[in-house]
Amino acid sequence: MMDQKVARLLNDQINKEFYSAYLYLEFANYYAAAGLDGFENWYKVQAQEERDHAMLFYQYLQNNGEKITFEAIAKPDCSLSDTMAPLKAALKHEQYVTSLINDIYAAAYDVKDYRTMQLLDWFVKEQGEEEKNASDLITRMELFGTDAKGLYMLNSELGARVYTAPSLVL
Ligand code: FEO
Repeated sequence: MMDQKVARLLNDQINKEFYSAYLYLEFANYYAAAGLDGFENWYKVQAQEERDHAMLFYQYLQNNGEKITFEAIAKPDCSLSDTMAPLKAALKHEQYVTSLINDIYAAAYDVKDYRTMQLLDWFVKEQGEEEKNASDLITRMELFGTDAKGLYMLNSELGARVYTAPSLVL
């Protein structure tokens, strides 16, 4: 039987990951309207990854015989004033998600739930990558995004991102 605080936090995380997917779809939607299909593609792929994260938590709870409760997914909370805004909001959001993963890890650590800690090791590493990607994108937008040709090139590059399934298999 899993500790109920750990189980509840893992259950909550399913919702948070689906919210992340929803938020990134909102960014994709914004860039589509702005004519930046490469940025749109980037965030559509990102949204797919977030759905994968949700499903990993879902499957983990299922595998451990825990009951799952779905809650409403909130409306994306963002006001996108310019083409830089989604990039900054994404970094802030990933930093928040890292704090959530850390909180679950701390709860699992407290009750010596080594199985959950092992699951979360993958997410801790993943969050490091997510934050770096988000931060790098801001830097590149600052460097190249103010020049039309630079923005065109960056958009083309982001358009080449392809979805790959997560390396973690439960
Ligand atoms: Fe599921 Fe972007 O963290």
